[in-house]
Amino acid sequence: MKPIPVYDPLPEVAALWEELQAAALRVLRSGRYILGPEVEAFEEEAARYLGVKHAVGVNSGTDALVIALRALGVGPGDEVITTPFTFFATAEAVSLVGATPVFVDIDPKTFNINPELIESAITERTKAILPVHLYGRPAEMEPILEVARRHGLKVLEDCAQAFGATYRGKKVGTLGDAGAFSFFPTKNLGGFGDGGLIATNSDEVAERARMLRAHGSRRKYYNEAIGYNSRLDALQAALLRVKLPHVDAWNEARRQVALRYNELLAGLPGLVLPEVSEGHVFHQYTVRVLGGKRDEVRRALEAQGIGTMVYYPVPLHRLPVYTPMGLSLPEAERASQEALSLPMGPFLALADLEGVASAIRGLQGCVF
Ligand SMILES: Cc1ncc(COP(=O)(O)O)c(C=O)c1O
Repeated sequence: MKPIPVYDPLPEVAALWEELQAAALRVLRSGRYILGPEVEAFEEEAARYLGVKHAVGVNSGTDALVIALRALGVGPGDEVITTPFTFFATAEAVSLVGATPVFVDIDPKTFNINPELIESAITERTKAILPVHLYGRPAEMEPILEVARRHGLKVLEDCAQAFGATYRGKKVGTLGDAGAFSFFPTKNLGGFGDGGLIATNSDEVAERARMLRAHGSRRKYYNEAIGYNSRLDALQAALLRVKLPHVDAWNEARRQVALRYNELLAGLPGLVLPEVSEGHVFHQYTVRVLGGKRDEVRRALEAQGIGTMVYYPVPLHRLPVYTPMGLSLPEAERASQEALSLPMGPFLALADLEGVASAIRGLQGCVF
């Protein structure tokens, strides 16, 4: 069997090759390489797509989180409630602005922050809630927004893995006070290098974000705050403009892959399959392998040329910088032992998908 990578970015490039080439050449010839008309056009198109008033292009998803937190007024001494089962950047951004991440456990069914545990984590220092739409599955936003409203807290959505995902008909990133997106090449809307975006309906937050991304200046050389060099490149914007009109179709293709996996893997004891829930865009198709067999399954698939990933092997409260908190969060810890992401992408061939499923079925009884 030919190797099947966990994700292959090249079919998306091949599908749009001529247009991508034309866009790249247009930028090369333009002489404008940072911000400028391509970035403005992309920001406008992304805002229209998301159904939000403002979109602000920045250097990465990490910077989108950092700048959005600061634009929302989060800073030293504040606490931000978030999930421990996410990529490091979510909590790192909180720490970078001088605030403290307060981890609450996840809902084992969704892998996302458990909304029921948020209220008891609120203190007089809590400034914001930072839910993550992990694997492309929208976090349970209604109770999160409700508790935030009652306590006067800001809500920043980490949408790095969920471009185009919807919650009750609205795009994620537009439900809270701001949303932070990543265009890391493997994302649902993936660029060709680093890139990120802040979405918000607030004029004030958008304006502060624009100021912070440009060294804290609204007017060149009249810097008013310590900011960042975090502007989106014109080349990224031009290439992302080519991909943006295809993102819905590609997200739907990912959902179809997930549905087919669920059919082919149904009924295997020791395997828990993800729900194809409303609005889920399957950045990852992640199963649970029970009984402590996850790593064995992973190795056995690898031996057959099938790529898998573990997102994430260590929950953030167990990483050295956060272990002094002394937390025990059993569901996040269990998920880090059981989660296994299988090959996924809008262009994953049906034969490959079937090959992965039958390889897993073949392990039943001998490995798990
Ligand atoms: C949940 C989450 N948050 C934040 C980030 C950071 O994004 P970036 O790599 O663009 O800085 C990522 C991805 O890398 C992510 O998956």
